[in-house]
Amino acid sequence: MTNPPILHDPAALRLPEGEAAKKLFIKTYGCQMNVYDSERMAEAMGSKGYVLTETADDADMVLLNTCHIREKASEKLYSDLGRLRALKRKNPEMKVGVAGCVAQAEGEEIRRRMPLVDIVVGPQAYHRLPAMVEAGGPQVDTDFPAEDKFEHLPQRKGYRGPTAFLTVQEGCDKFCAFCVVPYTRGAEVSRPAERLLREARELVARGVREITLLGQNVNGYHGAAGGAESWTLGRLLRSLGEIGGLDRLRYTTSHPNDMDDDLIAAHGDLPQLMPYLHLPVQSGSDRILKAMNRKHTRDQYFRLIDRIREARPDILMTSDFIVGFPGETDQDFEDTMDLVRRVNYGAAFSFKYSARPGTPAAEKAGVPDAVADARLQALQALLQSQQTAAQAQMVGREISVLYEKTGRYPGQMVGKSEHLMAVHVEDGAGAIGDLVRARVTAASANSLAAVLLPG
Ligand code: 5AD
Ligand code: SF4
Repeated sequence: MTNPPILHDPAALRLPEGEAAKKLFIKTYGCQMNVYDSERMAEAMGSKGYVLTETADDADMVLLNTCHIREKASEKLYSDLGRLRALKRKNPEMKVGVAGCVAQAEGEEIRRRMPLVDIVVGPQAYHRLPAMVEAGGPQVDTDFPAEDKFEHLPQRKGYRGPTAFLTVQEGCDKFCAFCVVPYTRGAEVSRPAERLLREARELVARGVREITLLGQNVNGYHGAAGGAESWTLGRLLRSLGEIGGLDRLRYTTSHPNDMDDDLIAAHGDLPQLMPYLHLPVQSGSDRILKAMNRKHTRDQYFRLIDRIREARPDILMTSDFIVGFPGETDQDFEDTMDLVRRVNYGAAFSFKYSARPGTPAAEKAGVPDAVADARLQALQALLQSQQTAAQAQMVGREISVLYEKTGRYPGQMVGKSEHLMAVHVEDGAGAIGDLVRARVTAASANSLAAVLLPG
């Protein structure tokens, strides 16, 4: 079992005097918030002498940070645990932990199904992980504790790399009929603004130039800020914009109903806010939007996109879609295709509906599998053609690129454009973390090639 290494500098972790490092392997499934949580868990375990390793084979502890959003994501945990059995037989001292949303949803059940698991820890309790490991023996903690986990986690001293995630809000009160998030991540909670500004400054001090604010419902952010009034996401972004050296800001994931006027305006007047917005709509049919409990119509969504594009004409819109929701007719699906044609997305994720235990929609019968498959294929073909066109449109344009890694060939750097497109630049003198100007010379479906422009 291997996984891309987490951006995290083991050398920066201080080990207790005279203690040999123990090796921790983390596999992260699912969304960007899980990536962020994995980093924070690695930092927390660092204080107990654990350093990250890139394969499970030589690990003293394996931690699986799981996703519960669709059935397939959930089932992956059990196939991975099955494979870990052989490893644990060879090394009975190895600890196995399950974190994340499957841990929250299934708790004790995971240990019943897979007794090799030592620790089950939910997404709100992982600051307790080091103590659980130290205590030894099997442990399950799926509390929603009163204390703030972020206040009990070490500072971000080991962070390395030019881009970082920063969780500003967690949980969701929207209760879309298909979604487990309100149950696994709990009610909406926003982190206080000063603490976020402090964490952002810590990251910038470590060389971070781009921060993506994370939340299941990030634009619903309403964090305490000392005064009587809480801050909105727009207010928080504007304050982050004042941190010198923080060149780029992004946020994800948003709900259409929480795009307020100031946040829309920020897309026009806050230079650090990148022209990219992930705004899931899920369906283009009013009937299905209602059945999904999305609480807006397709027309309201169109009007919102018009206002966002008025504020920032070159913004690249992306979205999530679900096909085969219970009751979805051919006409409903046509409405989704029509919405996609009208909005014209730069990229999007689309999924076949997956019934999740405990959600209201799970009570209803979905559409036949073959029908859902055909719809998914048609939708993905349309979205792919829009993505390819959006990429092709960049050819000839001057863009900025933040280098994240070296390329496959000598003298080549790879980074992201303002529109979050992957860009390959010929730049023999380039270094990770450089922010450069470049002109796009060629485009493929998933990346751009560009030449460096002076200064
Ligand atoms: N089935 C399929 N897709 C789902 N999503 C959330 N729940 C489900 C489900 N039960 C999708 C939505 C959401 C994205 C993160 O995952 O499109 O925006
Ligand atoms: Fe799930 Fe997003 Fe709906 Fe919240 S707004 S219930 S996270 S799909």
